[in-house]
Amino acid sequence: MPAHDTLTRRALLKTLTAAGGAAVARPFARFVDLLANEAPARELVARPSTVDLGGGRSWATWTYGGGVPGPVLGGARGTRFRLDLRNELAEPTTIHWHGLPVPPGMDGVPGLSQDPVQPGDVFSYDFELTHPGTYLYHSHAGLQLDRGLMGPLVVTDPDDPVRADVDVVVLLDDWLAGNPDDAFAALRSQPGFGMMGGMREVAYDGYVANGAVADPMPLSVARGALMRLRLINGAASTTFVVGVEGRPLTVTHADGQAVAPVVVDTVRLGMGERYDVTFRADDAGPWTLFAGNVDARVPAIALPIVVDGGPRTTGRPLAWPATLLRGRRLQYEQLRPLAPPPPVVVPVREVPLTLGFAPGYAWTINGETFESAAALAVREGERVRLVFRNLSMMRHPMHLHGHFFEVLTGAGRGPLKDTVIVDPMGQVAVEFTADNPGRWLMHCHHAYHMEAGMAREIRYA
Ligand code: C2O
Ligand code: CU
Repeated sequence: MPAHDTLTRRALLKTLTAAGGAAVARPFARFVDLLANEAPARELVARPSTVDLGGGRSWATWTYGGGVPGPVLGGARGTRFRLDLRNELAEPTTIHWHGLPVPPGMDGVPGLSQDPVQPGDVFSYDFELTHPGTYLYHSHAGLQLDRGLMGPLVVTDPDDPVRADVDVVVLLDDWLAGNPDDAFAALRSQPGFGMMGGMREVAYDGYVANGAVADPMPLSVARGALMRLRLINGAASTTFVVGVEGRPLTVTHADGQAVAPVVVDTVRLGMGERYDVTFRADDAGPWTLFAGNVDARVPAIALPIVVDGGPRTTGRPLAWPATLLRGRRLQYEQLRPLAPPPPVVVPVREVPLTLGFAPGYAWTINGETFESAAALAVREGERVRLVFRNLSMMRHPMHLHGHFFEVLTGAGRGPLKDTVIVDPMGQVAVEFTADNPGRWLMHCHHAYHMEAGMAREIRYA
């Protein structure tokens, strides 16, 4: 068994049963609704490890608990979450609970919300799981996320509008075999970067679904069951498109928050975005979940979905199926919150934010990088509208810590999210109520753009 296998015998048996007797090449149970069945983790060790990526490839990198991604963490809404992070790396680290509003001291941004956890030290995270949904946790130190220091965070909801029979996390990632700090240094020293149309940034060695670059463990479902996929983009710099060949998807949650259901064929996920989608296994299948870089001609991931232990598809991503290539792709305009949001009764203050690029590989907001810019001041209780205008040829998934924002889609009250893609030369406006005093970060979730300055502190006056 691979070194990163930390499953209990009970969980493994559960997988074997769930897989309907299919061959289990790599344990998969930790991605499958483990929260309800396992004692919650009390400690997470950040440490170097060699992980098995499948397809004969292994990767010497930094991990949470020996695997990439780390274990599914979370709990039920309203419960207390306590976890000790033990740092066995040679560098300082932290954990950020992406999307989940936590007290400011627990948010994991080194220098802003907490002191970085030094090598050999332990830091205790302790907060209430106030909001149900699908989230992500990751290191917020430098480019550690691109080494694999991330995992799924799920807060279950006793009143969940979706009653799924099978509840599965599908975490997508890009795989850089080398060192992200070297990749960043190479980008910085490339003099013509950004000048000549095609901006190629980091060249990845593969794409990963639930820890496998090849031959991922099939998902299993019983005929007639309702399947829920919690799609998470944990990549450092890849925007994914995801669809299931043969099954339209009902989008039920955007960034963990319930939306009025929308039926589509594919969804696009920027780095840090999540969608929960469902479908009913009302025929014999088998189907395949395809996922790939939005800019590539072919998908990179083919995850078989098996019905009643029956036949499975090949698991080889050779081409995009026409139904997904030309099918309906989710647009933000289609999303509305499931419950009507409270009316906005205070004046709205508008903050224009221009996203741009400067030579030497600097990514800027209003012409400035994080290091040189002043914090954006907000007052408790005020309503703030951030208007992102992208003057570059790259996508920027903009993420706000500590708050949800409402995406203003021009079609009524839009969805509550925490991360939103601003397309090249595009504009997106979001609004949030300043209701969580502290020091927070707002930034592009492209790890290299953030490292190159595309971030701002939001500070309560
Ligand atoms: Cu997931 Cu500041 O990020
Ligand atoms: Cu960006």
